[in-house]
Amino acid sequence: MNKDLLRMDNLSKEEILDILNLADQLKYERKHGIDHPLLKGKSLGMIFEKASTRTRVSFEVGMYQLGGHPLFLSSKDLQIGRGEPIQDTARVLSRYLDGIMIRTFSQKGIETLAECSSIPIINGLTDEEHPCQVLADLMTIREKKLILEGLKVAYIGDGNNMCNSLIGMHLSIANPIGYKPPQYYTDKGLELAKENNVSFIMTENPEDAVVDADVIITDVWASMGQEDEAKKRQIAFKGYQVNSDLMKLAKADAIVLHCLPAHREEEITEDVLEANSDVIFEEAENRLHAQKAVLVKLLS
Ligand code: CP
Ligand code: NVA
Repeated sequence: MNKDLLRMDNLSKEEILDILNLADQLKYERKHGIDHPLLKGKSLGMIFEKASTRTRVSFEVGMYQLGGHPLFLSSKDLQIGRGEPIQDTARVLSRYLDGIMIRTFSQKGIETLAECSSIPIINGLTDEEHPCQVLADLMTIREKKLILEGLKVAYIGDGNNMCNSLIGMHLSIANPIGYKPPQYYTDKGLELAKENNVSFIMTENPEDAVVDADVIITDVWASMGQEDEAKKRQIAFKGYQVNSDLMKLAKADAIVLHCLPAHREEEITEDVLEANSDVIFEEAENRLHAQKAVLVKLLS
């Protein structure tokens, strides 16, 4: 296993399955009142440069449940907010903490943090990647569909952090022109599709992407940090909505995932979200279990 979880492709297929199996076990233990203080005496720093509900609470509670100590570190209060180099912050925090989870803008920034730290760094979302969310999504898909292999996943919307982190699966993505994933990810998608004998289809047409899909995933049109583009994006993404008409093209038992927060009547309609609310809120819960598994694998 790599020291860090910075991007989804830091994990091999076997490592992903190991994490999911441990996550299932931790979920079972939690539901049956079995304590699992696997990280007793360990401390996790949680640096946030962007807002969060799920990531913040699930990492904090997860660390407590594992017997460890989470520290919420707002970048506004840290000296990095006043210009202290990330390299120095990394070297200092490595002497106090056993791991860092960070939510920030730049992927390059967290790669520098990881290079300069002797402790594991976990990506809690960057502009490019959201691996913790995708692990929770995979856990949820397996829970609901009982398998992962062979399922067709369709992603509709922005070629953003969520879309990028899904790449490597049996996947069809539909993004408007100008909002496709960066070339690194599309090249990677084609390369992994060959390697894993799955298909990776890129289209501009949501209808084409969802045909026979088992799982449909969408995300907001304007991510954190893109608030100024929201109006322009509402025009560009018109037609990229997961609604009941689109759902008719997928398999009859298809499920819909959304990492949340959702913008109803933009990327997803209220009725589709509510029809899939048991899946979507299980997905939110699974952030807790999947991340606990990541913490155990990286920090113990
Ligand atoms: N899905 C997700 O990462 O949610 P938060 O932004 O609330 O952490
Ligand atoms: N793509 C969204 C995901 C939020 C969890 C964002 O980056 O804001």
